[in-house]
Amino acid sequence: MVKASVLGASGGIGQPLSLLLATSPLVDELSLYDVVNTPGVGADLSHINGTAKITAYLPENGAGLEKALTGCDIVVIPAGIPRKPGMTRDDLFKINAGIVRDLVTGVAKFCPKAFVLVISNPVNSTVPIAAEILKQHNVFDATRLFGVTSLDVVRASTFVADVVGGDRTKYRVPVVGGHSGETIVPLLSQITPSVDIPADKLDALVNRIQFGGDEVVKAKDGTGSATLSMAYAGFRFAQALLKAAKGETGIVEPTYVYLPGVEGGKEIQEIVGGLEFFAVPVELGPSGAVKATNPLPSATDYEKKLLNTAYEGLKGNISKGVEFIAAQNSK
Ligand SMILES: NC(=O)c1ccc[n+]([C@@H]2O[C@H](COP(=O)([O-])OP(=O)(O)OC[C@H]3O[C@@H](n4cnc5c(N)ncnc54)[C@H](O)[C@@H]3O)[C@@H](O)[C@H]2O)c1
Repeated sequence: MVKASVLGASGGIGQPLSLLLATSPLVDELSLYDVVNTPGVGADLSHINGTAKITAYLPENGAGLEKALTGCDIVVIPAGIPRKPGMTRDDLFKINAGIVRDLVTGVAKFCPKAFVLVISNPVNSTVPIAAEILKQHNVFDATRLFGVTSLDVVRASTFVADVVGGDRTKYRVPVVGGHSGETIVPLLSQITPSVDIPADKLDALVNRIQFGGDEVVKAKDGTGSATLSMAYAGFRFAQALLKAAKGETGIVEPTYVYLPGVEGGKEIQEIVGGLEFFAVPVELGPSGAVKATNPLPSATDYEKKLLNTAYEGLKGNISKGVEFIAAQNSK
């Protein structure tokens, strides 16, 4: 029996993501949690003749979160405010940091062994916040905490196909680093199947992958950021994890993890200037992250320049998350 929960289930990402999970044969129970509207979303999804039993909760002074999370195997968190035009993901920190802190505290108390997938931005900082909270409760297991960077991977495949043609579903691009602007580093020299990106198209392609989210924010004109493509990407990652948990082998997905706690991570940490969190392609297995693979030594000089910029950005983003929790503790 697999129980999955979506925290922030009534939102722009939460609803389509819950729809995809509700129709997945890999999910037996789907619990929806949000501060608003979950009864409606739950009633709606419960009419689908899928295998998943749908339950829905509002806060109810804390009891709702407890009911939503108790017995959960996988928790996906898209709760929080999205960007408006002109905002960076870092601008969301003030509000979303506290939301992620409180929701992950619930995970630590009610389902400490669950896989935790953080979508709420800024991912570069909210994942360190989640790790700090889990550490405080003595339940931190780096192999079970993931920052969802799959949308960057999905966009990279699409945008590469836009430049070189071919089947966009077939391109696999290792996207490493973090999940915001210049911290997103697509290793285009390592695309499979391999392709030659014309030199005069490279800068624009990298820029589009790094800032693709802005296209959506601009087009939505103040009403939010990517929701449908994000729900697809988040589901893709959740599904990969659930398949690996069931014993399927050979599943590797880029995700933002705590390097020192994942096999192969320490070696990568040395290359990335000691950063504790970094997205790399990770082999998934029954207990979550089995092994962090290291594509960095084969990076081209062009990619190494991008990586150096990413390291700088990530350093500040990670400290911001860690310091947010430290500041709360010293109050
Ligand atoms: N990781 C990624 O690639 C990626 C991509 C796009 C968006 N995002 C982020 O995902 C988040 C959600 O985006 P959205 O477009 O769905 O926003 P949204 O405003 O449409 O939905 C957010 C939902 O979270 C709920 N919420 C707020 N506080 C909560 C709490 N304490 N507990 C439970 N639910 C709570 C809201 O009620 C709302 O339903 C944003 O932070 C956005 O930046 C991440």
